[in-house]
Amino acid sequence: MYKIAVVPGDGTGPEVVREGLKVIEAASRATGFKYETREYDFGGDRYLKTGETLPDSAVSELRGMDAIYLGAVGHPDVAPGILEHGILLKLRFSLDQYINLRPVRLYPGVWTPLKDKGPDDIDFVVIRENTEGLYAGSGGILRKDTPDEVAIQEMVSTRKGVERCIRYAFEYAQSHNRKKVTLCDKANVLTYAHDLWRRTFAAVAADYPDIETDTAFVDAICMWMVKNPEWFDVIVTCNMFGDIITDLGAMVQGGMGVAAGGNINPEGVSMFEPIGGSAPKYTGKNMINPIAAIAAAQMMLEHLGEKDAAERIDGAIARVCAEKLETMSAGKMGYTTTEVGDIVAGLTERKG
Ligand code: IPM
Ligand code: MN
Repeated sequence: MYKIAVVPGDGTGPEVVREGLKVIEAASRATGFKYETREYDFGGDRYLKTGETLPDSAVSELRGMDAIYLGAVGHPDVAPGILEHGILLKLRFSLDQYINLRPVRLYPGVWTPLKDKGPDDIDFVVIRENTEGLYAGSGGILRKDTPDEVAIQEMVSTRKGVERCIRYAFEYAQSHNRKKVTLCDKANVLTYAHDLWRRTFAAVAADYPDIETDTAFVDAICMWMVKNPEWFDVIVTCNMFGDIITDLGAMVQGGMGVAAGGNINPEGVSMFEPIGGSAPKYTGKNMINPIAAIAAAQMMLEHLGEKDAAERIDGAIARVCAEKLETMSAGKMGYTTTEVGDIVAGLTERKG
């Protein structure tokens, strides 16, 4: 019996999570795994009412779960940063979810802005370090609000943090039949932090002689993700660059309506989420695309070891994208949010 914590969150989060749960339920009926959910109301509304983002007691409770399913955090009435730090980053850090796994895969029939590129070309995975780098929160402000103000934001890279991330990328490549791992860095400018990344990459790569390796600067990676996405198989990178290139990746794979990710602690509790945010302007309209949230549920079940369930959902998503949805954009799918969830759930259950 899996214990799944559900955090619907803000904006359209609850709407897409509802569809994801519908699909999980269909997969469970079809393949027989058992699960229970516990819902948590963390998000902007709760914060506005109580002043609390994420109580410490919740973090210890979440440690006892098998996985966390998150909708979105971000509320128009809450200043930027509060919910991001207080909920999302706090969960990633306190549960030591040191990997952010973001597949960039174009499903057949999905429109991509890249001319002449198709599903065979756009199929790679970004493995983003998720607990360090510029996200470590190290730094400070001196002489605030004076002409002599100084703001320092430190990029923190530890040998242990970098190594476990790079090793995960190679292990991932090996277990998923991927041939090549590319390190995305800026070693020409970040001569301390990314020197450590380069040396660690070379050292870890030596343990995987069958996997091809490559290194590239992040600016060049952005160029090639657009011009030659077929060059990439597994990209491993630091927290900040991973954040940026995966939004580019999301666009290349058809938009925020389809992009999902996992915040993974291979030895602990992992959290799965659509990466598109709370999309407040679509809240309550039954217009948002739930595919990304359903894909996050699919990643969660795969992570839990429910291979059959995960394959069924993947097949259902592929079919719905190829045969049903007119576009991946909110309000232009040709179906409502609920209808898309119903169709994917039906195909998952019947193995359509
Ligand atoms: C993401 C988001 C977060 C990040 C924000 C909301 C803090 O953009 O998951 O990519 O920067 O990691
Ligand atoms: Mn981001």
